[in-house]
Amino acid sequence: MSQLQNDLFLRALLRQPVERTPSWMMRQAGRYLPEYRAVRAKAGSFMQLCTNPELACEVTMQPLERYGFDAAILFSDILTIPDAMGLGLSFSEGEGPQFARPVRTGGDIANLAVPDPEVELRYVIDAVRLIKTNLQGRVPLIGFSGSPWTLATYMVEGKSSKSFQKVKSLMFEQPQLMHQMLDTLAQAVAAYLNAQIAAGADAVMVFDTWGGMLSHADYLEFSLRYARQVKELLQTQRDGRQIPTILFTKGGGLWLEAMADTGYDALGLDWQTDIGQARARVGDRVALQGNMDPITLYAKPDVIRAKVGEVLAGFGHGSGHVFNLGHGILPDIDPEHVKVMVDAVRELSPQYHAAGA
Ligand code: CP3
Repeated sequence: MSQLQNDLFLRALLRQPVERTPSWMMRQAGRYLPEYRAVRAKAGSFMQLCTNPELACEVTMQPLERYGFDAAILFSDILTIPDAMGLGLSFSEGEGPQFARPVRTGGDIANLAVPDPEVELRYVIDAVRLIKTNLQGRVPLIGFSGSPWTLATYMVEGKSSKSFQKVKSLMFEQPQLMHQMLDTLAQAVAAYLNAQIAAGADAVMVFDTWGGMLSHADYLEFSLRYARQVKELLQTQRDGRQIPTILFTKGGGLWLEAMADTGYDALGLDWQTDIGQARARVGDRVALQGNMDPITLYAKPDVIRAKVGEVLAGFGHGSGHVFNLGHGILPDIDPEHVKVMVDAVRELSPQYHAAGA
């Protein structure tokens, strides 16, 4: 099916038989790793790290060397698209992302142009090419983007938000402008992901981190509709091979059936969702990725092992599960605890697959 030495991750996403459950971890390259902190210090800042393909490649490889995850994820950020649209992204220590020129008016929205990924986002696509070369087919590479809705929240708020007052005000008071912005973003996200696929990404994931902040009706109209539009614009075949797609809405447990109808191959699950119930609801329409509580990794090794076992048993027998956390790992987790988790997935998962029974 592919020239990859380990394609468990891609097979699980397509619900094809596997010998064991593959695993990777959201934010697997990050501050909990001392070797990441060293490269970040050398780069000077997070954005300098993201915009330097050699260093981005180096930190992408770090968690693979240490743990043997079954997939690599491009080291970058979801906010590269708004930055390429001219909003002026910076990260200040302890305060998270910030935009110098947030989007507030109809004029701002009309001025948003879809970036050419090979020009304004060239550094990301170059990183994809370099990582692919360095991986030498060891494991698949995941490309990613934020969802149109999640990108819009940062672009309108100008930074992280708790109440989403500004972006929701725009949505409530001028829904046609919100739709115009989301339509532009859907085109930008699709072009960006298509460029990552053309450059070698073997799967792509859409992070809808803030979809769960919406009411039921608004989620369908302003978040899911545009995640679907992205999916429809994706080129999911390369060299005769299917490029699996994953949609993750944090807080999306309420909407799994609707999410499963959008055409993505897999859904990411947060830890609040029961994975067994989720599987019963979506049936064989999609694979599932998740969903151990990231805070579990503060616990003692035997607790971590037991919780890994619960997630695997919760999904149960058969393919269609990629083990992951329900959200990103936190910066002060002991790296040894991640090893306990990865080893537990390797040891405990073969019993759920016919080839390992
Ligand atoms: O998963 C990976 O290892 C790949 C790299 C990756 C990063 N960000 C690196 C990063 C990915 C996939 C992301 C996605 C991302 N970025 C999301 C969606 C996923 C999610 O967490 O829900 C969001 C909402 C962002 C926006 C963002 N980037 C915020 C809010 C922050 C600051 C938060 C914090 O923890 O400080 C970032 C910074 C960021 N992105 C870091 C990393 C490793 C930490 C930056 C640092 O080194 O200082």
